Amino acid sequence: MFSKGNIEAMASAQQLIGLVKSHAEGDKDRFFDLAMQLSASEEQKGHTRLAEQLRQWAEAGQKPAVSRVPAITPIAAPRGDMAEFLAASYPAERLTDVILPSRLEDELAHIVVETRMREKLEERGLKPRRRVLLSGPPGTGKTLSALALAGELQYPLFSVVLHGLITKYMGETAQKLKMVFDAIKTTRGVYLFDEIDALAAARGNENDVGEARRVLNSFLQFLDEDTGPSIVVATTNLPGILDRAVLRRFDLVLPYEMPDAPSIRQAIERRLIGFAIARMSWKKVTDFAEGLSTADVVAAAEDAARRAVLADTDKITTQDLIAAIERRRALQGLGTDGIGKKPSTHSSSQSGQAASVSGQGRGRVKKSK
Ligand SMILES: Nc1ncnc2c1ncn2[C@@H]1O[C@H](COP(=O)(O)OP(=O)(O)O)[C@@H](O)[C@H]1O
Ligand SMILES: [Mg+2]
Repeated sequence: MFSKGNIEAMASAQQLIGLVKSHAEGDKDRFFDLAMQLSASEEQKGHTRLAEQLRQWAEAGQKPAVSRVPAITPIAAPRGDMAEFLAASYPAERLTDVILPSRLEDELAHIVVETRMREKLEERGLKPRRRVLLSGPPGTGKTLSALALAGELQYPLFSVVLHGLITKYMGETAQKLKMVFDAIKTTRGVYLFDEIDALAAARGNENDVGEARRVLNSFLQFLDEDTGPSIVVATTNLPGILDRAVLRRFDLVLPYEMPDAPSIRQAIERRLIGFAIARMSWKKVTDFAEGLSTADVVAAAEDAARRAVLADTDKITTQDLIAAIERRRALQGLGTDGIGKKPSTHSSSQSGQAASVSGQGRGRVKKSK
C-alpha cells in the first residue's frame, strides 16, 4: 500500500509534470498556479526556504523578463555547425536604454509596433519593415539598438559571426549563409549581421577580400528573399563603402551620429545614478566631451565612478569628470576606442555620411556656446 510519504512524493511528481507541461505549452498562468501550489506544499512540509525560492521564481516569471532565459525556443543554442557562426542570446536591453535623436528613436519604436501589429498590416496587404541597416561611427549604439529591438520584442537575438562564416571555399560559405537565411525564415528572431563592412572591406590577403565581397553579395541576394517573421539588422561603421544598390535592399536605413550635448549629459547622468552630481557644470563637461562617442562618454563616466568609489565618496565633481574624459581621449590617441573595436580614427576621418553628420553636430554644439 502507499505510505504517506509515497503519496506526497507522487503528488509533487504530478505537480512537477504539470509544471513542465504548462511551460512547454507556453501556458504562463497555469505555470504560475502550479509553481505556487508546489511552493505551498513544500511550505506545509516545513521546507520554508525551498518554498520561498519557488514563490520568488514564480513571481519573477510573471514580470516582463529582466534577464529571461526561456528554455523553449527552437534553436535556443544553435547546434553543431551552426554554433560556429550563429550565437543566440536573450537581451534584456530596452529601447529606452539607447540614447538617440528622437527621429531614430521613433523609427526603431515603430519597427517594434509594426512587428507586433503585423496581422493588422497584412489584412491591408502591407508588411512590417524587417530589414534594417544601422550605419554610423563606432560606439554610437548600433549594436545596443539591435539588442534593444530583440529585448523589446522579446525575441531571441541571433548574432551572425561573420568571421565564422567566411571560409576558404566559396561553396561552403554560401552553404553556411543559406543555413542562416533558412533559420531566419523559420525561427523567429532578430538576426544581427554586425559590422558588415568586414565583408565589404576585409583586410588580409587578396583571396580574403574577394571572398568577403562575394559573401556580401550573396548576403544581399538572400536579403531580397522573404525574411519570414524575423527581423534582420545589419550594422556598419563605414557608411561610405555602401552604395545605393546596397542601401535599397533595406526597408530602413538609420544614420547614427556622435552624441550632441544633451545626449552626452543624458549618457553620463544615467551611468552615474546614485552618485552626487547635482552641482555638475554640464556645459563645461559636454563642451569638453564633444566629438567623443557615446561609448567613450559612458566609459569616462564609469572611470570617474570607479575612482569615487575607491576614494570612499559618492561625490563626482566637474573636474573629476573632465579628468576622466581627458584620460579617455589620451587612450584614444593610442589608436583604440578601448572597447576592443575599430581604431577611433575611423569615426572622425572616414568619408561619407556619418562623418559629415557628426561634423555638423559638432558645429551646432560650438555655436550654442
Ligand atoms: N546611443 C547610445 N545610448 C546609450 N548607450 C550607448 C549608446 N551608444 C553607445 N553606448 C554605450 O556604449 C556601448 C557600446 O556601444 P555599441 O552599441 O556597441 O556601439 P556601436 O555598435 O555603434 O559601435 C554600449 O553598450 C553602451 O554602453
Ligand atoms: Mg557595434
